[in-house]
Amino acid sequence: MDKLIVRGGIRLKGEVDISGAKNAALPIMTASVLASGESTISRIPDLKDVMTMGRLLANLGAGFHYESGKTIINTEKIDSFEAPYDLVKTMRASVLVLGPLLARLGKARVSLPGGCAIGARPINLHLMGLEKMGAKIELESGYVIATAERLRAASIYFDIPTVTGTENLMMAASLAKGTTVLENAAREPEVTDLANALISMGAKIKGAGESVIEIEGVDELKPLDYSIIPDRIETGTFMTIAGITGGDITIKGCRPEHLDAPIMKLKEAGLIFENVHGGVRVLGPSRPGARDVKTMPYPGFPTDMQAQFMALMSIAQGTSIISETIFENRFMHVAELRRMGADITIEGGTATVKGVQELKGAPVMATDLRASASLIVAALGAEGETVISRLYHLDRGYEHMEEKLKKLGAVVERIKE
Ligand code: EPU
Repeated sequence: MDKLIVRGGIRLKGEVDISGAKNAALPIMTASVLASGESTISRIPDLKDVMTMGRLLANLGAGFHYESGKTIINTEKIDSFEAPYDLVKTMRASVLVLGPLLARLGKARVSLPGGCAIGARPINLHLMGLEKMGAKIELESGYVIATAERLRAASIYFDIPTVTGTENLMMAASLAKGTTVLENAAREPEVTDLANALISMGAKIKGAGESVIEIEGVDELKPLDYSIIPDRIETGTFMTIAGITGGDITIKGCRPEHLDAPIMKLKEAGLIFENVHGGVRVLGPSRPGARDVKTMPYPGFPTDMQAQFMALMSIAQGTSIISETIFENRFMHVAELRRMGADITIEGGTATVKGVQELKGAPVMATDLRASASLIVAALGAEGETVISRLYHLDRGYEHMEEKLKKLGAVVERIKE
């Protein structure tokens, strides 16, 4: 298990290029299963989760090839309909093969993901939607077994907007008979990107990015040739890094319009944003001001930015109240931030962060992907050296993080173990 040693207190300066979005790459890779033939997807980040998805697709019988940001997936010979426990347990997004397999083969056997570090994360809404579309769903030995001759259109209302649930059903509905309506659908940019990818395959989808999505099923889709959107969470993470180091970072190749809520909060906290050609320049203040945030589905403040924002707030002037409303256990970074001197108390889904003058380096442990990012943010702003263990969490979702940080002047070193 690799570790990262970070020497903090250095003002980071320079340019960083943003990678393709993990959470767009994963569903779009599974969308390739809907067609028969060779799909090419560009701007795919070099991440552990992408490689896990590649293994899952290969397990289904697809050809998977990845090279310098481009992946070629050949789905001519999909001959298995199973997503095994071993793969699903390492990456919940594996459940995204359910809709495409059912739509293309009429059958899917997908391991139930089980709990996860940040919350229970059930998939009942995915299953409810597929059942409404005529699928027979059975649970057997920890697996969901879904069967359907041909899925048919349905009107589906989500009690909670679910990102991968909306994606699974949008993919299933693309090949169903008739027009499916998804209400209270997730509006995240990654959902819109998947819709655009499906449209490029010949799907008929209206309303992606809004809470009502209409999908008119077609008989056949053609393979993909698509380039995915930049990662808004990586972008936001570098914004908080500029904030905590009082830095001057130009973030290239990003889409700031996908980060309206975080940018608004960061501006209120004293960061300065300047639009520049091909990106945005972010200047950190000498010390940020405290701001409250509440995580919400898009276009609200993203839960995937909560931990990084909290790291920034831990050295802010004043007290900030951070409420997590999406996942019930997404405060695991708090105990680690406290080890670095942060003054944070938790009650239910609310953290009260009393800004301290300075964080101090300490050995800390990453517990999940965004928690690991928040520890890096904190470590870069802290006095002294921080050793972050269990770095594999970071490798699931941040492409070449150390190289990018080094280019900005950070002193970081990976220790391979
Ligand atoms: N939910 C249900 N039933 C369902 C589905 C969801 O109750 O059937 C609940 C969840 O438990 C949660 C809420 O609905 O309380 C929203 O969860 P959602 O389904 O939207 O989350 P997800 O699709 O499993 C994706 C991202 C997450 C991100 C969330 C929220 C991917 C592959 N994952 O997860 O990303 O935090 O949406 O925006 O797109 C990450 O990248 O670090 C990450 C965890």
